[in-house]
Amino acid sequence: MVKAKVFVYQRRFDGWPKEGDLKLVEEELPPVKNGEFLAEAVYLSVDPYSRVFSSRLPLGAPFLGYQIAKVLESKNPKFPIGRHVFGYFGWRTHTVVKDEPSGMFPPPVLVPEWKDVPLSYFLGVLGMTGNTAYFGVLEICQPKKGDVVLVSAAAGGVGSVAGQIFKIKGCTVIGLVGTEEKGKWLVNELGFDNFINYKTADLDKALSEVAPKGIDCYFDTVGGHITNTVLSHMNEFGRIGICGTISSANEDNETSAPFNLSHIVGKQIKMEGFTVLRWPNRQSEGMVQNHKWIQEGRLKTRETVTEGFENAFKAFLDLFLGNNIGKAVVEI
Ligand SMILES: NC(=O)c1ccc[n+]([C@@H]2O[C@H](COP(=O)([O-])OP(=O)(O)OC[C@H]3O[C@@H](n4cnc5c(N)ncnc54)[C@H](OP(=O)(O)O)[C@@H]3O)[C@@H](O)[C@H]2O)c1
Repeated sequence: MVKAKVFVYQRRFDGWPKEGDLKLVEEELPPVKNGEFLAEAVYLSVDPYSRVFSSRLPLGAPFLGYQIAKVLESKNPKFPIGRHVFGYFGWRTHTVVKDEPSGMFPPPVLVPEWKDVPLSYFLGVLGMTGNTAYFGVLEICQPKKGDVVLVSAAAGGVGSVAGQIFKIKGCTVIGLVGTEEKGKWLVNELGFDNFINYKTADLDKALSEVAPKGIDCYFDTVGGHITNTVLSHMNEFGRIGICGTISSANEDNETSAPFNLSHIVGKQIKMEGFTVLRWPNRQSEGMVQNHKWIQEGRLKTRETVTEGFENAFKAFLDLFLGNNIGKAVVEI
C-alpha cells in the first residue's frame, strides 16, 4: 500500500496565506486499476494562481498545483514505468492518475526526453510558465520591432521569459522589479534595456525617465496601483496583455485597484486578459520554440529551488513576498 503526503486545503484563506490554512496529511492510495498509473512527484510548482483559484476549491481537497512526476507503476501503455509526466495532481507526493482532464485542467502528458535541459525546466520555461509568456507575448501583445515594452514582475517565472521574447522580437524592454538584484540580473544577463525598482522609485517619474516616448505594450502580471500608474504612460493604440493580478491576490476586495479608464478610451488602448489554457492544442509549439531559443542562447532561465515537500508552503508564501528569482519550484 502506497502512502502519499498531501497538503489539503484546511481553512479558507483570509488575506495572506497563513500556517494552518493548509494541513499536511498522509493518505493511503488505492491500487492502480486498468487505464491508471502511479506517479511519484519529483518537482512541484508553486504558483500565484493557486491563491487566486482557491475560492473555487472545496475545503479538504488537495491544494492546487502541478508537478513533474515519475511513473512508478502503470496499467496504461501510454505512460510507461520510468517516464516522467506533467500533471495537475495538486500538492501531493504520490498520485494514482487517470488519463483524463481534472476539472478545468488538462490530462497528464509525458515529459519529452530531452537530455540537454534539467527536468525542472518543464515546470518553468518549458512548461506552463514558458507557454504563458510565449502565447501572451506573441498572441495577445503582438509585438512589433521597435515597440517600447514594459513587463511587470519581470524577474519572475513568466515575466523573465516574456521580456526575453519581446527582446527576440526587436523591442526595447523595461522590467518592473522589487529589488536591485533582480533588476541587475535582467539587464546584465537577460538583455533587458532597463529596469525600475517599483518598491523604491517614484514609478510615475521613473517611467517618464526610462520611457520618455511612452509605452507601446504592457505585459501585466501584477495589476493594481502599478497598472493604474502605467496607464497614463501608454501610447495611442497601445496594447496591454493582462496575464495576472498578483498585487491583489491576497486582498478580499479586488476592487481596490481602480483603473483610470479614460486613458483606455482616449488613447484607444486594447487591453485583453488571457490564460495559457486558451491554447490547449498548441502547448508543444511554445515548448519546442522556447527550447530552440534556449539552445540558441537567446533565452535564459533561472529557478529558485526549495528543498523538501514539507517546505512547499514557505515557497508559496515567498512568491507574494518577492523572495523568488525566476521560476519557483520545490524539489521533493
Ligand atoms: N494568465 C495565465 O495563464 C498565467 C499563468 C501563469 C502565471 N500567471 C500570472 O503571472 C504572474 C506571475 O506568475 P509567476 O508564476 O511567474 O510568479 P513569479 O513572477 O515568479 O513570482 C511572483 C512575483 O511577483 C512579484 N510580486 C509579488 N507581490 C507583488 C505586488 N504586490 N506587486 C508587484 N509585484 C509583486 C514578486 O516579484 P517582485 O520582487 O518584482 O515584486 C514575485 O517574485 C502572476 O500574477 C500569475 O498569476 C498567469
